[in-house]
Amino acid sequence: MAELPTRTLGDGTSVPVLGFGTYSLRGDDGVRAMAGALEDGYRFLDTAVNYRNEREVAEAVRASGVERGDVFIQTKIPGRDHGGARRSLETTLDVMDLDFIDSALIHWPNPSQGAFVRAWEGLVEAKDAGLVRSIGVSNFKAPHLDAIIEATGVTPASNQIELHPFFPQVEQRADDERRGITTQSWAPLGRAGELLTAEPVVTAAQAHDVTPAQVILRWHLHLDALPVPKSADPQRRAGNLEVLGFDLSDAQVEAITALGRPDGRLFDADPDTHEEM
Ligand SMILES: NC(=O)c1ccc[n+]([C@@H]2O[C@H](COP(=O)([O-])OP(=O)(O)OC[C@H]3O[C@@H](n4cnc5c(N)ncnc54)[C@H](OP(=O)(O)O)[C@@H]3O)[C@@H](O)[C@H]2O)c1
Repeated sequence: MAELPTRTLGDGTSVPVLGFGTYSLRGDDGVRAMAGALEDGYRFLDTAVNYRNEREVAEAVRASGVERGDVFIQTKIPGRDHGGARRSLETTLDVMDLDFIDSALIHWPNPSQGAFVRAWEGLVEAKDAGLVRSIGVSNFKAPHLDAIIEATGVTPASNQIELHPFFPQVEQRADDERRGITTQSWAPLGRAGELLTAEPVVTAAQAHDVTPAQVILRWHLHLDALPVPKSADPQRRAGNLEVLGFDLSDAQVEAITALGRPDGRLFDADPDTHEEM
């Protein structure tokens, strides 16, 4: 069983270097897949209120037999709860039957709604009250980060953004790093589309005798980003953990990053305009 090393977030919280995405994993099959992930060695489950599977995430932790304290559980506050982030988190804890959660992120800034600063204030309050150990954001750009830090003096520990070789987010990663924010990568495999057959990915996979997915996940670690790949397939899920037994050369990392393109987003979800309620 693979055992993942951890890294320390800006607020001192320790987190595995790679997490398990749970979007679309629901019901009994979802519980089985997530418990299986914990049995494989994953120790970080990434959920959200809007995935409608928080109950299953908590059930999976209990079913796996892994100690609650050994699992990092992260959720995300939806746009409709920006005015009451603390209350939203209390509901999550009720649904999960937990006393605290490890990490809570604002899912999207929804700038047109104009309430993400209020949401951040709610998360700061929830952290002070001990409901959550680490607070962060998702899909935030530099002006959104400026606004919440200016209002509260509190810097998010994480910023989970769309990040894969077709959209390598060079500027946002640098901005996060400058602020001491850990960048997490959503859709780290580009949802397994044409990325898996891209030339530099396939060439590196052949050179290291690993899969294209393993090369891409290793690339995230080279960027110091924290990927949360999702797989419902037991073999692919286990394989996605085996990313530390080989190393990419600088040239391989550069060739993969060079796949980036300005319109590389998977579905045009620009945080300045995308609405998530
Ligand atoms: N913060 C946000 O706004 C946001 C947005 C989107 C996603 N997320 C989070 O990020 C997680 C991951 O993103 P994602 O699920 O969109 O995309 P992803 O992890 O890049 O890709 C998942 C897809 O890749 C396939 N796959 C997984 N491992 C594979 C492998 N080794 N070889 C070939 N195919 C493989 C999966 O199919 P199988 O299941 O059949 O293996 C699934 O179709 C989500 O589950 C969620 O937790 C966050």
